[in-house]
Amino acid sequence: MSAPYRVFVTRELPGNGFAALRDDPDFALDVWPGDFPPSRENLLKHVAGVDGLVCLITDTIDAAVLDAAGEQLKVVSQMAVGVDNVDVAACAARGIPVGNTPGVLTETTADMAWALILSSARRVVEAAEYVKDGEWKTWTPTQMAGIDVHGSTLGIIGFGAIGQAIARRAQGFGMRVLCWNRTPRPDQAAAVGAEQCGFEDLLSRSDFVCVSIALTDDTRKLINAEAFRLMHPGAILVNTARGPIVDEDALVTALQQGQIRGAGLDVTAIEPLSMDSPLLTMDNVVVLPHIGSASMATRGKMADIAVANLRAGLTGQPLPHSVSWSVRG
Ligand code: DGY
Repeated sequence: MSAPYRVFVTRELPGNGFAALRDDPDFALDVWPGDFPPSRENLLKHVAGVDGLVCLITDTIDAAVLDAAGEQLKVVSQMAVGVDNVDVAACAARGIPVGNTPGVLTETTADMAWALILSSARRVVEAAEYVKDGEWKTWTPTQMAGIDVHGSTLGIIGFGAIGQAIARRAQGFGMRVLCWNRTPRPDQAAAVGAEQCGFEDLLSRSDFVCVSIALTDDTRKLINAEAFRLMHPGAILVNTARGPIVDEDALVTALQQGQIRGAGLDVTAIEPLSMDSPLLTMDNVVVLPHIGSASMATRGKMADIAVANLRAGLTGQPLPHSVSWSVRG
C-alpha cells in the first residue's frame, strides 16, 4: 500500500465529506485545533512536506507558504468562494490548482445582504438594543422610525451570482434595481429586471448600495471618498463582499458628516474589527462578523466541496471548482 496523502487542514471543518476524510486510510490529516488560525510560524511548520492544504479566508497562503510546503504540494483547497488571501499566481506558477466553493453559498449570502438592508433601513439592531436597555417606555409617532425598503432603489456593485441573487429578492419589494459590473451582463440584468448603469450613476441614484464584487487590486477601495460624495444623504451602504473594497476611513468620514445615512457591514477592512473603530460607536451602523455564508447547511456544503477539490487535486483530476486552470500532470 502506498503512503497516505499528507494533508494540513487549518481548522476543524463541518460536513460529512470531512468526517469521511478523517476515517479514510488514504489520508493522513493534520488538523489545526481550536477556532483561531495557526500563527505564521505554525503554518510554515505544518505545511512542510504536505501533499494537500485545506485553508480558510483567515490564512495567508503566499509563495513562502508554498515553498515551505515543498514541491510535492499538489493542491490548495480553500473553503470559501473568495480567494484573495491566496496568491493564486504563485500557485499557478508552481502548477498547483486552487480550489474554491462557489454556488452553494450564493443564496445564503444574498439572504444576509437582505438582512443588512432591512436591519439598516428599519433600525432593527438599534431598536432591539433599545428594548434590552430598558428604553422602551411608550409608543411615539416617530420612535425608531427608519426608511422604507419597498419602492426604493437598490444599486448592486458587482453582478455575479450573489449580486443577481440579491437583485432577485428585490423584485418582491417592488424596488428599482440598478447594477454595475466591470464586464456588462445585459442578459443577467434583464433576467432579474435590473437596469445596467454606470458606476457613478448607480451611486448617485441608489437608496441602498450593495457591494457584491470580488476583492482584487482593481476593486480595493473602490468605494472611496469620491464614491461617498456621489451617494445621497439618505443612502445606506451594504457590504457582504470583502472589507478592503470600501475605504473604511472615508466611510467613517461620510457617516460622521452625514454624507450617507448608514451602513450594514458583514465584512471590514481588518477582521476582526478593532474595538476602537468609530464604526462601533455609531447607532446607524450594523457590523457583523463576516457571517454571510454562515448557515449550518451552507457551511457543510462548502466544506464538502473543499474536500472534493482536495481529493481531486491529490489524484491529479481537474478540481470540481477551481479558480486556476493549471493542474499538475
Ligand atoms: C467566501 O466564501 O468568500 C466568504 O467570504 C466566506 O464564506
